[in-house]
Amino acid sequence: MLLALLFAGLMLCQPAAAQKTGTFEAGKGTFLLNGKPFVVKAAEIHYPRIPREYWDHRIKMCKALGMNTVCIYIFWNIHEQREGQFDFTGNNDIAAFCKLAQKNGMYVIVRPGPYVCAEWEMGGLPWWLLKKKDIRLREQDPYFMERVKIFEEKVGEQLAGLTIQKGGPIIMVQVENEYGSYGEDKPYVSAIRDCLRGIYGKELALFQCDWASNFEKNGLDDLVWTMNFGTGSHIDNQFRRLKQLRPDSPLMCSEFWSGWFDKWGARHETRPAKDMVAGLDEMLSKGISFSLYMTHGGTSFGHWAGANSPGFQPDVTSYDYDAPINEYGHATPKYQELRNMMQKYTEKKLPSVPKPIAPIITVPEFKLTEFAPLANGADKTVEAKDTKTFEDLDMGWGTAVYTVELPETKNGGTLVADVHDFAQYFINGEYVGKTDRVKNERAITIPATKKGDKLQIVVEGMGRINFGRAIKDFKGIVGDMKLTADVDGHEVTWNLKNWGMTTIPDDYQTAVKAFEKKSDNKGTRGYYRGYFNLKKVGDTFLNFETWGKGQVYVNGHAMGRIWYIGPQQTLFIPGCWLKKGKNEIIVLDVVGPKETKVWGQNTHEVNKLQLEKSNKHNNIGDKPDLNSVTPAATGAFKAGNGWQTVKFSAPQKGRYLAVECLSTQDGKPQVAIAELYLQGTDGKRISREPWTTKYANSEEENGNHMGDKVFDLQESTYWQTEKSASMPHLLVIDLGSVQTISALEYCPRAEQGAPGSIKNYKIYMY
Ligand code: GLA
Ligand code: CA
Repeated sequence: MLLALLFAGLMLCQPAAAQKTGTFEAGKGTFLLNGKPFVVKAAEIHYPRIPREYWDHRIKMCKALGMNTVCIYIFWNIHEQREGQFDFTGNNDIAAFCKLAQKNGMYVIVRPGPYVCAEWEMGGLPWWLLKKKDIRLREQDPYFMERVKIFEEKVGEQLAGLTIQKGGPIIMVQVENEYGSYGEDKPYVSAIRDCLRGIYGKELALFQCDWASNFEKNGLDDLVWTMNFGTGSHIDNQFRRLKQLRPDSPLMCSEFWSGWFDKWGARHETRPAKDMVAGLDEMLSKGISFSLYMTHGGTSFGHWAGANSPGFQPDVTSYDYDAPINEYGHATPKYQELRNMMQKYTEKKLPSVPKPIAPIITVPEFKLTEFAPLANGADKTVEAKDTKTFEDLDMGWGTAVYTVELPETKNGGTLVADVHDFAQYFINGEYVGKTDRVKNERAITIPATKKGDKLQIVVEGMGRINFGRAIKDFKGIVGDMKLTADVDGHEVTWNLKNWGMTTIPDDYQTAVKAFEKKSDNKGTRGYYRGYFNLKKVGDTFLNFETWGKGQVYVNGHAMGRIWYIGPQQTLFIPGCWLKKGKNEIIVLDVVGPKETKVWGQNTHEVNKLQLEKSNKHNNIGDKPDLNSVTPAATGAFKAGNGWQTVKFSAPQKGRYLAVECLSTQDGKPQVAIAELYLQGTDGKRISREPWTTKYANSEEENGNHMGDKVFDLQESTYWQTEKSASMPHLLVIDLGSVQTISALEYCPRAEQGAPGSIKNYKIYMY
């Protein structure tokens, strides 16, 4: 026994044997690993969404699923939070992560952006790029390209030595990310390719990912092309065009979406295990490689969660994604089903499923009794004629207080501005209301004012948009703030000038300092501190459902955003960041809590909405009377998947689009639409940025199949009526302004047989 232990000890002390070098390339119809056919079975996981202490456990969980590779993004903005200051240590140690994967017998696919999307703040781009106001992001803007190159080289210093050609685990590197859903710019994509090739060498396989509907726009001849699509998609359809263009190419779904992400104010998303497993099974049976996005989503800690557009739909802190391995690292029923299927494609018995790395503990209810008002977090104050954004004020994340003097308004007035994102208005210290960008609120009425009354606006920035053109997402008051009021029977508009702007950065140090300042403890908006004692350490879920809106720090770790509207009401607190004895918690609540209590529970609450009103668009007052409107087009769609275009006989003017569905292809009453575009008179798609849903007679709210899903740029998400709702169905979209339209493009659901696809329709513009 002793000898055996000694021997084992000796083994551990042996220097790691030099890794064998190898090759990975695209062969004829298959990838080749060291010259032999190889199917990539990749698990997408994100190192900053998992505490470093848990990396090994999560990788082993992926391995026990039968995966042979892990796929990671590199998140530029977490490594270069200030221009020129790089951090690849601790949870940011990407080289250590890749080596750990290799130690576990896994290959690695790296997706170093520079843009990554990923429901991550600004899609991974650093906020400070926006200090150059006219910057063209993800284009050949000289400054953007210069910073990209520096960043990619820094990543290269960490990873270039870890390619398979050098004995490391990295088999492929991705160039940019789904560029087709952003633009058409081969020179730019080529420049990113050349930059990466220069860093990783010409032997390393490079690929680009896109959707079946748009990959040709930017496809470069010398890159491997892979497709992204979700659970339920019709797999042969997804690869049809690629097979026509490149009959010999290996096939890979580089993002097979296991579930979907959650947004504040909308229900938790799920996708059936059966469909996910069937899709992967089909791909494996055809020798198609895949990466399962996400295999384990984890948590968007701190302020790293992004937001979606059109509109502004900030993502919640949990990135559970309804993935097989849930947010806190446990195997779900989906995991078991997937593992059973994966076993069929592995000769050896899959390794047993690792036990959870930490127990789940509860924490009895306690109160946060120390308080410091928000103002105590003030960093600096700038005075200027015009409003400045957070970026102008040199603050990446946090809250800013904007102060200005008001003119006299005898009967009150209306303030209008573009404020990002959540603003609360005070006159002489009295709360008068809020505007919430999520609800597209831009105006607020205020009571009568005297000249010189002090208007204060507390603006909290949420995650920057990570998808589409709107990633150039400045925070704070963007542009002018105008006040309109009635003066002696005339409407007068003031452009408010001479602002004071105080920044309150979102970080732990600021929160701690807030408690050191003297204050008269006024108000309820601010920092709350409390402590809880633990005898035993473990993972837990702290409940914040009685709190308002803000940020949570536990033992100095930024845990993430909270917001009473839900659906997420608890935060996952990893045990590795807790300790025996006294633990500290600080909550920054910019709205103020109902009660300052917190407790740790043993279940995660990610699907509890506390909304003032339902999200549905079925207000009968919004339903148009189409009786006297002549349809722009009447007809029938073809059956099946894929895009179809309806050309109007003459261009039609209108602010509203109404799609009336009279029958379906399958004869059932349930209708679904995945995406809609409108073409202007030049035949080009008009921007959907300002679109909102005006009316839908029925929306399946439980699955988040709301009207806005037809213009969210995602073919895998869709508007769907409830099963019980009867024909005809009507969806009305407000284009934001009057437009002249020549055609409508329609995309049904991506699943086999295009469920819910429309047959007879009437389209109106009015
Ligand atoms: C796209 C992006 C990913 C992620 C998914 C949705 O495929 O490439 O980064 O945003 O959408 O989860
Ligand atoms: Ca959609």
